[in-house]
Amino acid sequence: MTTIRQHDTSPKVGPRHVAVIMDGNGRWAKSRGKPRLFGHHAGVKRVKEIVRACPDLEVKYLTVFAFSTENWKRTQAEVTGLMKLFRRYIASEARDLLAEGVRVRFIGDRVQLDAKLRRVMDEIELLTSGNDRVHLTVALNYGGRDELGRATKRLAREVAAGRLDAETVDETTLARFLDTCFLPDPDLVIRTSGEARISNFLLWQSAYSEYEFVNTLWPDFTAAEFARVLAQYGTRERRFGAVPA
Ligand code: FPP
Repeated sequence: MTTIRQHDTSPKVGPRHVAVIMDGNGRWAKSRGKPRLFGHHAGVKRVKEIVRACPDLEVKYLTVFAFSTENWKRTQAEVTGLMKLFRRYIASEARDLLAEGVRVRFIGDRVQLDAKLRRVMDEIELLTSGNDRVHLTVALNYGGRDELGRATKRLAREVAAGRLDAETVDETTLARFLDTCFLPDPDLVIRTSGEARISNFLLWQSAYSEYEFVNTLWPDFTAAEFARVLAQYGTRERRFGAVPA
């Protein structure tokens, strides 16, 4: 397991890793007098569009928040509908994503997920494992605190088994146990729909990320707006706690 920790202090090159909290599907559907799932279906179309826009925008890593550990509190109908949507999307898009050079991986706790969904997740991860054009990571049953809890448990087991010396444990060690051990930290986190919250997303990894909160509801968030948000990021100076030169 390796952790990539490269800090891009010259944002003019654009963010390499963009993470997105795709919010506003429910409100988008409601404003049209439709059920919430209608909004989630429209949201999937945007995921496809944004993934396809990544190579031209030089975004190598795209991480999207599809389902949080808190989303189980939604109605049974919405949860079931979302799970079905994920399974269908993953199965139907696998070939195209493979052909487009997208490597798909998932973060989050899979244990609680339906066996059929887990199977298509495993399959697409294996199928696209040789791709390197765009790295799409889908956070599914993901929560930052849950991830830290699971990572700490695994780390503690290593210490208890004598394979890891507690005295050597530092932030790099812990990062190796996180779901995101294969990813660089996000340079930019975007949240749509006008809400300005982190909602338990990539808590550890976004310590130095830039944030952009946009009012657009996720199903209306086009590749053109994505490009504009990235251009805005390019005007920022990232200091990582240091004083500017
Ligand atoms: C938040 O909007 C959105 C979700 C919880 C689901 C997001 C999922 C998708 C867009 C599908 C993506 C699928 C894959 C496989 C990547 P909300 O329902 O909280 O909206 P609201 O705040 O308006 O109620």
